[in-house]
This record gives sequence, C-alpha cells and structure tokens, in this order.
Amino acid sequence: MGNARIFPLNAWYAVAWSHEVGQRELLARTICNRKIALWRKADNTIAAIEDACWHRLLPLSMGWLENENVVCRYHGLAFDGQGQCTRMPGQEKPTASAKVRGYPALERHRFVWIWPGDPAAAKPELIPDMHWNDDPDWEGDGKTMFAKCDYRLLVDNLLDLTHEAFVHSTSIGHVTVAETPLTTTSDERTVTVKRLMPDVEAPPFWRAQLGKPGNVDRWQIIRFEAPCTIVLDVGVAPTGTGAFDGDRSQGVNGRVLNTITPETDTTCMYFWSLLRNYRMRDQSLTTQLREANARIFMEDQIVVEQQQKEIDARPDYRLRNLVIDAGSMRARRIIDKMIESEPAPVGDVAA
Ligand code: FES
Ligand SMILES: [Fe+2]
Repeated sequence: MGNARIFPLNAWYAVAWSHEVGQRELLARTICNRKIALWRKADNTIAAIEDACWHRLLPLSMGWLENENVVCRYHGLAFDGQGQCTRMPGQEKPTASAKVRGYPALERHRFVWIWPGDPAAAKPELIPDMHWNDDPDWEGDGKTMFAKCDYRLLVDNLLDLTHEAFVHSTSIGHVTVAETPLTTTSDERTVTVKRLMPDVEAPPFWRAQLGKPGNVDRWQIIRFEAPCTIVLDVGVAPTGTGAFDGDRSQGVNGRVLNTITPETDTTCMYFWSLLRNYRMRDQSLTTQLREANARIFMEDQIVVEQQQKEIDARPDYRLRNLVIDAGSMRARRIIDKMIESEPAPVGDVAA
C-alpha cells in the first residue's frame, strides 16, 4: 500500500477552464504528479510543457512569453510549445538535445485537456463527453474546487448520492434519496447508477425550480466515464407526466458535469458546472445557481478532506463497502484495470 499509482496516465485530464489559459501569461498546473506550464499560442491552440527548465530546473512558469515561446527567468533560455529550446544566450545555435517534455493539449467543452501518458495514444475522441457545457440548448456555468484529497474520494462521493440526505440535508437532500433502491450497470469505461423516485415530495431546491405544487417524479442518473468524469442527469416533473418514459417536457432538467483531475496522490482539481434547459439566457439565475451549488459542494469538500486526513493517519485501513457503494466499487475497478494495463512509466516518481 501507499506507493501504487492511483491514476492512469493514458487519459485526458481537464487542467483549466478555457478562459484561464491566455496568450500573455503562463499558467502553472500540476496533474498526475507532473508540473506543467501552459499558454495559448497565436493560432489559439494550447501549448503545455514540463514546468522545469532544461538548464537548472527553474519552473518555466516563473518566466514570460515572447513570440509564443516561454523564456526562462533565470538565464533566458527560450522553449517553444513542443518544449524544444529555441534560444541559448551566449551560443549562436541552441544545443539540439535541449528539450523539455511537451504534452498533448486540446480544448473541448470549455475546458483545456492534457494527456500525461503516451502521446501516441492521445486520441481526441477519448475526451470525456461534457458537451452540455457548450451546447446552445443548455445554459449554465461552474467553478473549480481545489480539494486536498485523493481524487477517487470525490468519484465515490458523486457515484453515491445517498450522502445528499445527510451532507446536504438543508438544500438538495431528502430522505427519499437514501431510501430509494438504485440500479447499477457498467461496461469497460462507464458505470451508470440510476435512481427513480416516483411520486415523491419535491425537495426545496427542485420545488423552486419547477414552480408548480404537488408531488413529483424525481430522477438521478449518474454516469461515470473513466477515469474521473461524472455527469449527473437530475430533475423532477409533476407526478405521472411521463418523465420516466422519456417525456420530460413538463419538468425541469439539470446536468451536473464533474471532472476531477488528480494533482498528486492526495490533492485534486475538481471542475464542475451546472447546466439547465429551462429559463435560458437568464444570467442572474445562472449566477445564483452556480453560487448555490458552490456552497453545496463546500459541504462535500469538508467531508472528503477530513476523510483524507483519517486515511493518511491509518494507511492500512481498508474502506468498507455497502450496497450503496456498488457504483464506486465498479468505478474503482475500472480505474485499477486502466492502471494495470499501462507499462510503468520511466522515471515516474509516483510509480
Ligand atoms: S535555469 Fe533556466 S535558463 Fe538557466
Ligand atoms: Fe454532495
């Protein structure tokens, strides 16, 4: 225990919101125990290279950008978006072998994604589906949580919404959620956990969104896409209006998009957004919902960070599993398989 790698490297990980990566400033991020410097090139594509100068290891993110290249703050070596050294002060031509590692980087669904593993395997179609984020039929916004925990604790948290009844008892929580049985299905890359709650009282949040009295049919469909993306399809409709049979037109529907990128073994970046398909282009509602959701997620943050402290204090303790943990157990098995199928990366400090 303790030393095994807990995340696959051959996967796309969100590292930033698109708007966080610009053409003037460098952004420093850590993913999968790798320090990376990011910026945007003149053609708008993203450059991502190892954040350590080839010469004396000063983080390149401490330097600056000059003609699309990063200049090291210490002795002025310049590196291009591939990590190739393009200028060496005091030499007419830079040494050809002067190179830091470059990472495949792409922008999609309002996020910047990086592939920390084998570049040859980095296929764009493997980017997790979060298309609601820039789909004109959906409206919403989100934030980033920097959490001091193993990213899998947040995967566990999202795959089991039983915790809503206890962690979020004052907002979205309702005992019905904990009492309703769930179904779990999975394939090689995904796990789906479904809870359908027919004819229940609407919790305060959904009551307000629906704006109609009476009981509701409520659904929570959670889809995990390995290794760390979870999309929640949630909503309510007046009882018996056909929501469980595919007609959600009388109800309100939300998508909570979550992708949780490991920074280190015990810290992560959690990117989330909350989308809706009603009251479109209502910016004040968008802001209100985003902030309300951020407050709800702070309740989760307290739980998972404390959990991590207890895990650190008892490194040999095996977390117990209940029926409600079926989804997260399958997810963790998929993650473990991905890790096992990868060759141990050379020089990987965490392996
Ligand atoms: S450490 Fe970067 S140029 Fe010397
Ligand atoms: Fe939660």
